[in-house]
Amino acid sequence: MKRRTILKGAGAVLVLAAGGGVWRASDRGVFSTGRGPAYEPWSTWRGDPSEGPLVYVRAAILAANPHNTQPWLFRLSASRLDLFADPRRSLGPLDPFRRELYLGLGCALENLHLAAQVDGFLANVAYLPDAASLEHAAAIGLTRAPAAPTGSRSPAATLHAAIPRRHTNRAPYDMARPVSQAALQALGGLNDDPELMLFWFAEEGKRRRLAEVMVRATEAMRRDDEVMRASAQWERFRWREMQAFADGLTVDALGLSAKERALAKWLPTPDPARVRDLWQRATRERQTATASVFGVLAGLGGELTPRGASGGGGVRATEAARWLRCGRLWQRLHLWGTTQDLAMQPMNQAIERAEREAVLGVEPTIGKALEELIGEPRWKPLMIFRLGYPTLPALPTPRRSVHRVLA
Ligand SMILES: Cc1cc2nc3c(=O)[nH]c(=O)nc-3n(C[C@H](O)[C@H](O)[C@H](O)COP(=O)(O)O)c2cc1C
Repeated sequence: MKRRTILKGAGAVLVLAAGGGVWRASDRGVFSTGRGPAYEPWSTWRGDPSEGPLVYVRAAILAANPHNTQPWLFRLSASRLDLFADPRRSLGPLDPFRRELYLGLGCALENLHLAAQVDGFLANVAYLPDAASLEHAAAIGLTRAPAAPTGSRSPAATLHAAIPRRHTNRAPYDMARPVSQAALQALGGLNDDPELMLFWFAEEGKRRRLAEVMVRATEAMRRDDEVMRASAQWERFRWREMQAFADGLTVDALGLSAKERALAKWLPTPDPARVRDLWQRATRERQTATASVFGVLAGLGGELTPRGASGGGGVRATEAARWLRCGRLWQRLHLWGTTQDLAMQPMNQAIERAEREAVLGVEPTIGKALEELIGEPRWKPLMIFRLGYPTLPALPTPRRSVHRVLA
């Protein structure tokens, strides 16, 4: 074969390979971060005033929620909104008491409440209004509020404006830029619920001890096939699947740099064992290692052991209501953090593992360690998070449209 012919052939192979690579990259969303129908709710969230209370649901669905399961359903009427749990979207063995599910509903409730308030309504929330059903999480009555003084922006309006900018940040945080005491105090000041408490782990020794417990909990969870399978059901590492389901955990939300993200999307989807390894490494080397501060939201009373697990009533309404209120507080903290350019990430594996220990009836190693760290047995941990200044921006996650979440 002549040299020119060989070169032509090689060129064609290269063009094909490059073309195939580009096709594969675009098919996997390498060039489409934050785009497509699954991301539209982030840009259409202000809706149209003629839609009435549906506009508040647009704000609600942008809330934080466990594994991006979006476990909510909404029912609307002119003067009232009802929020329901969608049990088909529970995390199963990863959330055996549905603590996280109710926390997520609380987050949605907070956004909804802010949207109604900013629109001039008094939103009166009744938690668990139906004694016969724990799935009816809240009823929100809407009445017109007296006209607010014009001029300065209300705190609710500031938090409301942050709704589409709030994203969970799993990237490394900037350890050279400490979080000020004033910021921690301001965050603490957002809690007005006597049954909830915010504990800070800011001093290095305390942070390290909590980080160790979190890493140990991750290691135990990683070996727990039932839990890992439940978690994997919400992985949406394939672009088309993610666009169709519009929920779950995505590559874009992992806190990777632009290059790492492109590569992770382009390469074949990792097998379950590799996903577990990556999670373990991210927890140890990236997330706990760069937490400027940890916070623990705790609730008074409550227990980690299953209530009536042997056939009784399961979780009680008082407990679920506390979780809803805690979810509202978490959303408020994260929105306020967003207004201050702080990065935040819930990291709940230690609580999840403690619950799992209770369900399995095994030695409560992580449960005890957590209790000792908090040091006040009356307060039970409900949510753990890290806080700091970002080194990378956090990206939006998919959302199902409002029309898919109406009961
Ligand atoms: C109750 C609850 C528990 C969560 N636990 C974790 C966690 O353990 N690790 C984590 O990385 N993110 C956790 N998250 C964050 C969610 O995964 C995140 O809110 C969801 O994927 C939607 O993404 P967004 O917050 O960026 O909108 C949790 C959120 C909530 C409300």
